[in-house]
Amino acid sequence: MTYKNIIVRREAADKIAVVQLNRPEVLNALNLELMTELIEALEGLDKDAEVNCIVLTGNEKAFAAGADIKEMSGESAVGMLMRDQFEKWNKIRALKKPVVAAVSGFALGGGCELVMLCDIIIASETAKFGQPEINIGVIPGAGGTQRLTRAIGKVRAMELILTGRFIDAEEALRLGLINRILPVEFYLSEALKLAKDIASKPPVAVRLAKESVLKVYDGSLDDGLDFERKNFYLLFATDDMREGMTAFTEKRKPVWTGR
Ligand code: HXC
Repeated sequence: MTYKNIIVRREAADKIAVVQLNRPEVLNALNLELMTELIEALEGLDKDAEVNCIVLTGNEKAFAAGADIKEMSGESAVGMLMRDQFEKWNKIRALKKPVVAAVSGFALGGGCELVMLCDIIIASETAKFGQPEINIGVIPGAGGTQRLTRAIGKVRAMELILTGRFIDAEEALRLGLINRILPVEFYLSEALKLAKDIASKPPVAVRLAKESVLKVYDGSLDDGLDFERKNFYLLFATDDMREGMTAFTEKRKPVWTGR
């Protein structure tokens, strides 16, 4: 199966698959078409008996710089709510097989949220994480307020979400967001090595172990995700969202009016 915005490669002997986000000209911004392809590919691999573990990666410069701002900028709150495009991301959360993220460069906004949907995170020395949505007049909309807070704690998540500050790989490691850091030449091979190791374990035990660890998130996570997503859509009713996204496209500083 070939896709337009992602590349899927299997390493059959080791029972792993690598999925690469592939819109390098826009730092792998996650548009609807890419996400549809990604979810279809991941669900296919999840059902494939010849694959035991999946690696999700981008390129050296960017894992993903967020949801595609240009695609979203003209949307209304009602349009966002009715299309509910980020609800589909829950399908990634529902994958039974472990997903190892191999992250280099930018992992911002929806890119950081996608990383946090993975089970293990290997970063290169150049990785940069952040939830900069506040700078374009919105908030994280695919789990960032919930998963970042669970991963690094309330006060730290609050600072990053309210300021939009990026953190480098060292800080991400210190905060417990990622598993380890490798030089750029080795982050992907390390992720593959780890995936091969996991793929060599008994698959049923791996599946139940993943499900059990994720159980920690159940219960109020669903309520939190719904609440966050609706608020994200609601912000499309504000002038500041329109201004933030337009200013990004026009490469200028936004002027906030508080409306
Ligand atoms: C659309 C994007 C993009 C994005 C980058 N590009 N990020 N296009 N959506 N999220 C495009 C740029 O417009 C530019 O296109 C090209 O990619 C290269 O980006 P530059 O800005 O020129 O690169 P650089 O100067 O190196 O700056 C990198 C950057 C910056 C710091 C990552 O691009 C940036 O701030 N991007 C936006 C990050 C962000 O706000 N993410 C959150 C999005 S909202 P051209 O055509 O000019 O060459 C979000 C909501 C999540 O994710 C909701 C649930 C999923």
